[in-house]
Amino acid sequence: MNIGIAGTGRMGAAIAQRLLTLGHRVTVWNRTPEKAAALASDGAIVAADVADLVQACDVVITILTDAKAIDDLYAGAAGLLAGNVKGKTFIEMSTVRPETERALDARVRARGASLIECPVGGTVGPARDGKLLGLVGGADADVERMRPLLESLCRRVEHLGPIGAGAAGKLAINLPLMIYWQALGEALALVQPIGIDPTRLVELLADTSGGPNVLKTRGKAIAEELASAYAGPVTFDVDSMRKDLVAMIAEGNALGVEMPLSARTLACFDDAAREGLGAKDCAVIPARWARKVARNH
Ligand SMILES: NC(=O)c1ccc[n+]([C@@H]2O[C@H](COP(=O)([O-])OP(=O)(O)OC[C@H]3O[C@@H](n4cnc5c(N)ncnc54)[C@H](OP(=O)(O)O)[C@@H]3O)[C@@H](O)[C@H]2O)c1
Repeated sequence: MNIGIAGTGRMGAAIAQRLLTLGHRVTVWNRTPEKAAALASDGAIVAADVADLVQACDVVITILTDAKAIDDLYAGAAGLLAGNVKGKTFIEMSTVRPETERALDARVRARGASLIECPVGGTVGPARDGKLLGLVGGADADVERMRPLLESLCRRVEHLGPIGAGAAGKLAINLPLMIYWQALGEALALVQPIGIDPTRLVELLADTSGGPNVLKTRGKAIAEELASAYAGPVTFDVDSMRKDLVAMIAEGNALGVEMPLSARTLACFDDAAREGLGAKDCAVIPARWARKVARNH
């Protein structure tokens, strides 16, 4: 199977590396060409343009910033759907609202191709290791055809229903996590005056009923940020967290449900972005709140 990846940002690049490790023929394209070119040394074929990529592949994976990015990349004279895509499969993995995936599905089907969505839980490391959580939406036959590929990327593949179901599932699994990052900051503020060693503190919190998995997977980064400043690679940035919260609140509103905690969390993250932290790793969020205590005393 010839696999294409259009959009080799943090997640797209990690997924490309995973597929290359497994011996697949992988063609890549990215709006900012340097990011796609960097994958050549891992064995990827770098497409000259979007048309080149589509022509070379049976399956095209996209994992992009947001709904606008999906629109920009799929639509238009130079878009993914511009040429002959009959019989091809697109796997859309971005975190967006269900309505975005449903609108894309109609466009893709009108061109004689098929779409499945598979937004994912897990970050760059799990993507490189094939340990993502795949929340899939799509027609049964399309999903089953793509299942071996999805299973090579994910530790668990959950087919939740038709197109839109995966997007809804992804927003749902991320919501408590978004709120947790802020809640952790408030918890850390309470113990800030005690002066516990950050590594010990994070390990202690991880060993409690209130400690989610993220304390184990990102605990080191959180402790480093608490101690001074996390200097490792950005996995998921504050602006992406804000984008997710905006989507969650809009989806809740569309369903007629209030989202008071999500709205308040978004306001806190908006403040962080105004302070210039938008491009920083999410580990900055709890540390930012804990540091307020030091400033107030
Ligand atoms: N990072 C994570 O831990 C994580 C985990 C799970 C899910 N996700 C989701 O995965 C998606 C990608 O996240 P990421 O962290 O990989 O982001 P990223 O590193 O910022 O990559 C975003 C990708 O989208 C492309 N893009 C943005 N706007 C575009 C446009 N108008 N036209 C064409 N391409 C465009 C970017 O191209 P350029 O390079 O040219 O900007 C880049 O390839 C997001 O929906 C995110 O919520 C992320």
